[in-house]
Amino acid sequence: MEVNLQGRSLLTLLDYSSAEINYLLELAAKLKEKKHRGFQGDALKGKNIALLFEKTSTRTRVAFVVAARDEGGMPEFLGKNDLQLGDKESIKDTARVLGRLFDGIAYRGFDQKSVELLAEYSGVPVWNALTDQYHPTQVLADLFTIKEEFGHLEGIKFTYIGDGRNNMANSLLIGSAKMGLHFTLIAPEELWPESTILDQARGEAAKSGAKISLSTDLDAVHSTNVIYTDVWVSMGEEDKFAERVELLKPYQVNENLIRKAENDQLIFLHCLPSFHNRETIIGEKIYREYGLEAMEVTDKVFESRFSRVFEQAENRMHTIKAVMVASIGDLNAV
Ligand code: CP
Ligand code: NVA
Repeated sequence: MEVNLQGRSLLTLLDYSSAEINYLLELAAKLKEKKHRGFQGDALKGKNIALLFEKTSTRTRVAFVVAARDEGGMPEFLGKNDLQLGDKESIKDTARVLGRLFDGIAYRGFDQKSVELLAEYSGVPVWNALTDQYHPTQVLADLFTIKEEFGHLEGIKFTYIGDGRNNMANSLLIGSAKMGLHFTLIAPEELWPESTILDQARGEAAKSGAKISLSTDLDAVHSTNVIYTDVWVSMGEEDKFAERVELLKPYQVNENLIRKAENDQLIFLHCLPSFHNRETIIGEKIYREYGLEAMEVTDKVFESRFSRVFEQAENRMHTIKAVMVASIGDLNAV
């Protein structure tokens, strides 16, 4: 059956079939090639796109802006302090206003319920640009980067190490299960994914042939193709540094972990931003308080030949462009 995503929101990858995800990855590859050949397009010509961000962002924000502009769309950034949202106006009312003026809305915020409400009440496609529960546009870029590197997704051994309960872990688990990657989580049991997410992922894995395993043992990294980590403390939970440093210190991605994998061809991925040195205010604070030069990944690994983090960051733009073009764009203009 031919895939058609016109008019569809992207709130979580759970709502997308593996064929639909594949279609987005293929469209992203086409758009990436077009951009690298130096062509601007008009697949989003005349489309007004709202970028409603209640949390800070570098990559996601600029990816939406550049992707929209590259195809003739008109993005408008609306930060937390630019709107009445929350203080004077509800999500439902804001959704109904934005939906009358914009053709699509990207939303970054806290609860998944907010992005669901926006989609329900705006009447236009809404794209989840990160919530506490999910970060689906990031995982599209991650899958795209893995496919670029290895030529396929099925059967790839994927290891996520660190905070196994955050938006990235949830979305990578679902994305891997849907696309047939063998997903291993290495984390302390306190930070293993919630059972509802695990059950959903296991259901998807049964269809795709993916395997899912959870471990507290670093040796589970053996022979992996991909090592992925994320920050130990996500946006909105900044009071948790002390407990996370304590829990996750043994789960840092460092040279020892890379050696344990015994696979010279593996790649290291991270959604970014990353605390891999002391060149940030928080990085320096962590050093002073806990004596750590880096948190989730050492500078050596981050800067190593295994690292594909900046390819991954660029791919945010190509995959987000595919999501917008597929849902509100003119596919004949691609
Ligand atoms: N990876 C990611 O979402 O980065 P930003 O928070 O900078 O958008
Ligand atoms: N888990 C991180 C992802 C940032 C892209 C956070 O939510 O802060």
